Amino acid sequence: VASCLPKHKVGKRQWPSNQFQPRASIFKVAVLGAAGGIGQPLGLLIKMSPLVSDLHLYDIANVKGVAADLSHCNTPSKVLDFTGASELAKCLKGVDVVVIPAGIPRKPGMTRDDLFNINANIVKTLVEAVADNCPDAFIHIISNPVNSTVPIAAEVLKQKGVYDPKKLFGVTTLDVVRANTFVAQKKNLRLIDVDVPVIGGHAGITILPLLSKMRPSVTFTDEEVSELTARIQNAGTEVVEAKSGAGSATLSMAYAAARFVESSLRALDGDSDVYECTFVQSNLTDLPFFASRVKLGRKGVEALISADFHNLSDYEANALEALKPELKVSIEKGVAFAHKQP
Ligand code: NAI
Repeated sequence: VASCLPKHKVGKRQWPSNQFQPRASIFKVAVLGAAGGIGQPLGLLIKMSPLVSDLHLYDIANVKGVAADLSHCNTPSKVLDFTGASELAKCLKGVDVVVIPAGIPRKPGMTRDDLFNINANIVKTLVEAVADNCPDAFIHIISNPVNSTVPIAAEVLKQKGVYDPKKLFGVTTLDVVRANTFVAQKKNLRLIDVDVPVIGGHAGITILPLLSKMRPSVTFTDEEVSELTARIQNAGTEVVEAKSGAGSATLSMAYAAARFVESSLRALDGDSDVYECTFVQSNLTDLPFFASRVKLGRKGVEALISADFHNLSDYEANALEALKPELKVSIEKGVAFAHKQP
């Protein structure tokens, strides 16, 4: 599905978009982990979407109050709450998009990989239920480490015989959101104009912003490139440290996840001009999963945008090679976990 893209089509759209007029509120969205730090503001932002008819909120606890609260907003979608494993199947039936921010977040000093033992099991269990109840849905994985939880999800779906690689997404939108913000600040650009593709994965050096491919085209000194790249790669840790043990990014993450949901819904609704960076099954490198810009359509990923990988700067080309071993280990760790007997 690799393809090149006419330049004027790439990365123009901002969220929320006012360029596309949606037909009606027709899509059902489920959030699994909806009572959490990300889940609550994400629920609110999805409740504001004109495309959503039903918002299903699932968590192991505390979700009734969140749903009651959100249901008072006078926007079209109906809000329903589901608590605990016995209500999970009902939550997922007939859903078009499932967003998974369930799991524990980082504390200062932790890497995303330190979350593996707990979150791997949570993602496995939830994706098994998705496979059983809404196998055609788009699946958005937010739970970290994304570099491993997406491969876990893929293996679970394969074991259930319902894997569609075009519909499984690791949410890396926050890396793009951060890159756009930091670059606009540094270069004094209008935020609305800035779009930086971010490729690779979603942890440390696997996060690779392609400043040479951003719009508008801007010149950077070598120092600016390494400083901006490091800030984008460590932005999650910046928030974890500022929150001093009270969690990781939740509000900016909810904003980014809501943008990715809205993009998915516009694609499902037939908008033919939807592009996002996301961590998906990919043949753009020698790794089985890789984040890149993709074109979204009714059936999920319509094309991987290979053009961003051409004519990289030396800095980017080196960083791309340097990130592959770490990303490979994370992917293989996820696959091995999924094949372990319970
Ligand atoms: P949180 O602890 O505030 O919320 C997590 C929620 O998941 C809680 O409400 C909890 O009850 C729920 N939960 C736990 N086990 C569950 C299960 N089996 N089924 C359903 N729900 C379950 O955590 P927060 O801050 O919302 O973060 C969630 C995840 O998102 C973490 O893994 C974090 O690392 C990740 N994250 C990912 C980012 C990305 O860019 N992809 C950025 C920021 C965070």
